[in-house]
Amino acid sequence: MIKVLMVCLGNICRSPLAEGILFSKVDNDKVSVDSAGTGGWHIGELPDQRSIDVAKNHQLDLSNQRCRKFSNSDFENFDIIYVMDKSNYKDVVSIARNEKDKQKVQLILNEVYPKQNLDVPDPYYGGANGFENVYQMLDEACEIISNKLLES
Ligand code: 4NP
Repeated sequence: MIKVLMVCLGNICRSPLAEGILFSKVDNDKVSVDSAGTGGWHIGELPDQRSIDVAKNHQLDLSNQRCRKFSNSDFENFDIIYVMDKSNYKDVVSIARNEKDKQKVQLILNEVYPKQNLDVPDPYYGGANGFENVYQMLDEACEIISNKLLES
């Protein structure tokens, strides 16, 4: 089993979408997908309604997801940790225990635009269109990730 973790700030907007999208594209007997946030404001909550709605528009159901906070035990429990932006990268890497932990952490859009270190913009304070935009970015990245995982 390859274990993939999606991480954003709140774990209610971007990383739940990334989790749902990748989950829908992989063999669930071979790849597990989870998500977490670096911040703890929404622990135990459902994803943001706008993420639930945009996912539903694309035939994905996020209603089984509950927010949790990233912890350093996640470095043990996951093989790949995809972060949504450079701020998440800094926060996650800052609690890495060693170089092996650090190497697990990747900016998700580097799968689409290698080495450009682009951010998935935080849609939390914007309108609904921001969520569709995020969906499209994550769908493109997860398509590439799922194909890579097939080869590994
Ligand atoms: P996310 O968006 O990181 O994509 O889940 C956010 C959601 C909530 C907050 C920040 C970002 N917040 O500050 O509550």
